[in-house]
Amino acid sequence: MSETQVHETKPEWKERAWIDAQTYEAWYRESVEDPDGFWGKHGKRIDWFKPYTKVKNTSFEGNVSIKWFEDGELNVSYNCLDRHLEKRGDQVAIIWEGDDPNEDRKITYRELHAEVCKLANVLKSRGVKKGDRVTIYMPMIPEAAAAMLACTRIGAIHSVVFGGFSPDSLAGRIIDCQSDFVITADQGLRGGRTIPLKENTDKAIEIAEQSGAKVRHVLVVRRTGGQVGWQDGRDLWYHEEMEKASAECEPEHMNAEDPLFILYTSGSTGKPKGVLHTTGGYLVYASMTHQYVFDYHDGDIYWCTADVGWVTGHSYIVYGPLANGAITLMFEGVPNYPDSSRFWQVVDKHQVNIFYTAPTAIRALMGAGDEFVTKTSRKSLRLLGSVGEPINPEAWEWYYRVVGEERCPIVDTWWQTETGGILITPLPGAIPLKAGSATKPFFGVKPEIVDNDGNPLEGPCSGNLCIIDSWPGQMRTVYGDHERFVQTYFSTYKGKYFTGDGCRRDEDGYYWITGRVDDVLNVSGHRMGTAEIESALVSHPKVSEAAVVGYPHEIKGQGIYCYVTLMAGVTPSEELKKELVAHVRKEIGPIAAPDKIQFAPGLPKTRSGKIMRRILRKIAEDDYTSLGDTSTLADPSVVNDLVENRQNRH
Ligand code: PRX
Repeated sequence: MSETQVHETKPEWKERAWIDAQTYEAWYRESVEDPDGFWGKHGKRIDWFKPYTKVKNTSFEGNVSIKWFEDGELNVSYNCLDRHLEKRGDQVAIIWEGDDPNEDRKITYRELHAEVCKLANVLKSRGVKKGDRVTIYMPMIPEAAAAMLACTRIGAIHSVVFGGFSPDSLAGRIIDCQSDFVITADQGLRGGRTIPLKENTDKAIEIAEQSGAKVRHVLVVRRTGGQVGWQDGRDLWYHEEMEKASAECEPEHMNAEDPLFILYTSGSTGKPKGVLHTTGGYLVYASMTHQYVFDYHDGDIYWCTADVGWVTGHSYIVYGPLANGAITLMFEGVPNYPDSSRFWQVVDKHQVNIFYTAPTAIRALMGAGDEFVTKTSRKSLRLLGSVGEPINPEAWEWYYRVVGEERCPIVDTWWQTETGGILITPLPGAIPLKAGSATKPFFGVKPEIVDNDGNPLEGPCSGNLCIIDSWPGQMRTVYGDHERFVQTYFSTYKGKYFTGDGCRRDEDGYYWITGRVDDVLNVSGHRMGTAEIESALVSHPKVSEAAVVGYPHEIKGQGIYCYVTLMAGVTPSEELKKELVAHVRKEIGPIAAPDKIQFAPGLPKTRSGKIMRRILRKIAEDDYTSLGDTSTLADPSVVNDLVENRQNRH
């Protein structure tokens, strides 16, 4: 019952693609039947100082242990830089496009290599050693990529924190991984506005030090030249330190399973988790997916619009592309500044061939009107990508027809911070497209859809998405808390990696991700735990209780809906709502700002005190017909009050 139109693979896509339909079938079969043989071969796509003799050693049972290429040795910055110097030292590695359309820079592989070596020497001279955690809180400038690569050069573990996070969020991450070195900038610049990164860092360190953390140094890139506070001895200017540093730095020989980076991400409970990725498997997987999914060929100009603060920026702005010797574009700005043509103007200016963005941006630009697109050429574009949340078929078709003029395949890539790289995706020369479907698994990926009891479902079905065997890019643990890793991902369905996503499989074996089935929100492609927002709300002195749910939002995908119970004697008001929104922004960051707040005298709870979110979700969606059984509630009348309040608001 294929109600969706299938977009067949066009001959010209097939012609240039690395992988055609037969190759996909053959490689996929080999990858799942003989993972050792398959990955043993493809692991050689990167350079190893000491070749591995073992390939896969993984178990999803018991204490869960994941090791790939475990006796091999390599260095990530060597793979992303040194090994390209002979062939493409003078080729551009990073095209940087500033927030201001008149600002840009091009950096060759040779220049980036020198920058990274110098910075690695700066870190060393300031006492950073292999295994130390370095926090990177930066705007989208090339120095952010250099900072990540410099860490990998000396074996330090980086933890990049998105520049939009608040001082509190930054502090939490500094504390959790006991990081004593921070790299930041004076200010960031986005959409014509400055972001006080150094000031936020100062505040974060103050908060972190109250919990016993000690930050030895803050290395500051001068981006805007704005005024910043300064602590002599602790704070260091990037440009001053770099002047003194040598451009020669031997890459550290790292074991394949040595930690590469930590990236914090939200789950359904508790504080954000430090997702830990290691060196060898991650790089093999990021580079291989980058080449085949985006069909990257030498000389292509590739642009991923993500921020390096998210995993997409790690794998598909920095590590995957640079390991492949690609030309990667890094954009400091936003899609609608100076106006909604910006993306397409940048495409024309730099002759971008491959463009990778998020559905929320596509929907916002679609809403701005076709003329912002059609007045630009976009003739250089050859392939379009989507990531971060389900893309609705309407936005997909618009992207395909208006942006790509039916010339460019769309790769809708499903993956997660935890997966390190893309797991379910079309390959442009091999897999016919369906608008809204991430289509088929990448090599080595074994998806399984299970019912709520964990029984595997066959054929066309709908249920919970698990992956039943390991792939090289998989996270290895939660930093400092392996028990939480096992609990979070492998205990819901024993022996299987549970993604937290709902999924449908159609009669052609295509996968359709339907969104999170747990208490994780996906707002404009940003992942957030309802628990985090709730805890920010209840930290306000006038709030006694809060429950947060998602609701469908035209542009953001999901919006944040908060039910708030006030302390006795506090009068609800519009002013107070604004105060609460400002409070959450301050606690977590602007991305977590509530879209709607409803004051609720009571919340629907079971007799054991558990909040029934199912009911709250329905009310937030304005769907009162199927509230389900409310008889198990401690006080069923609460529901009527909530519905009445909700309806009175409109
Ligand atoms: O719900 C899925 C959604 O984003 C979640 C992962 O978020 P994060 O770790 O922040 O990584 C985002 C970028 C890889 C997933 O559990 N998601 C991501 N890509 C897609 C998607 N949902 C549907 N289709 C996608 N292509």
